Amino acid sequence: MRWRRGSTKAAESERDERTAERLDALGERELAELVRSQPVPAHVAIIMDGNGRWATQRGYPRIAGHREGVKTARKIVRAADAVGVRYLTLYAFSTENWTRPEDEVSMLMTLLEHTVQSELPELMERNVRLRVIGRTDGVPSGVRRGIAKVVDGTRANTGMQLMMAFNYGGRDELLDAFRRLAVEVRDGRLEPEAISEKDVSRALYTADIPDPDLLIRTSGEMRLSNFLLWQIAYTELWITRDLWPDFDGRALYRAIADFQGRTRRFGGV
Ligand code: FPP
Repeated sequence: MRWRRGSTKAAESERDERTAERLDALGERELAELVRSQPVPAHVAIIMDGNGRWATQRGYPRIAGHREGVKTARKIVRAADAVGVRYLTLYAFSTENWTRPEDEVSMLMTLLEHTVQSELPELMERNVRLRVIGRTDGVPSGVRRGIAKVVDGTRANTGMQLMMAFNYGGRDELLDAFRRLAVEVRDGRLEPEAISEKDVSRALYTADIPDPDLLIRTSGEMRLSNFLLWQIAYTELWITRDLWPDFDGRALYRAIADFQGRTRRFGGV
């Protein structure tokens, strides 16, 4: 019995390897076609990692890696939109990122604000709605106002929703949610025994957004880094060694194609 199970597993993993090799050999256009021929994950979330390493490997200052990272973000928004992803969440700045050197933080803030503002015409053209999740009140007011203009300007767009996680921390999001629910309990609008998963979900920054189907992390790190902790309970993971500036549309489609070949069991069999 053991031997039989072992051999079935070996056959399965050989088949998976052959599939992976076949997908690895496809170009961006072929992968896009393949991805479009099957149900596309509605929500893709990405931990963009490796800008600093990309720059350091080339002897550039870290900010050069972030500038290159902006180009990748632009490519990925276009690529995700092209295959019909409905929600794309990018982890742009975490609550932990404030511990980086002051000049890197301030250059990043300016870069993110300028990028978002300069993308407004393309977001409008593509009918993409920009939203921000995170504690925006902790962001310098000029940056906050600049980004809010684009959030307001794209509010009525009905195409893909692009979520920028900005000054975002998963535990902070849960704390904020618990505080909101505690106020409802205090005011007699919610019974403690009646608190459900739905109540927690509606109290999160992502209240009206479905949980991510696929979470991608670049640069090979095997961690979640405090990202969407509640929402990723059943999310499929894809970790690539590519540094974020080297990631592209083909790499996104490769991840989605892999996702499409998986069976999601949501804790069942
Ligand atoms: C990741 O690399 C860098 C970030 C998450 C910072 C901000 C992201 C960008 C500027 C990309 C563009 C994004 C948007 C939304 C326009 P890292 O600095 O953590 O790299 P390291 O781990 O190699 O140091």
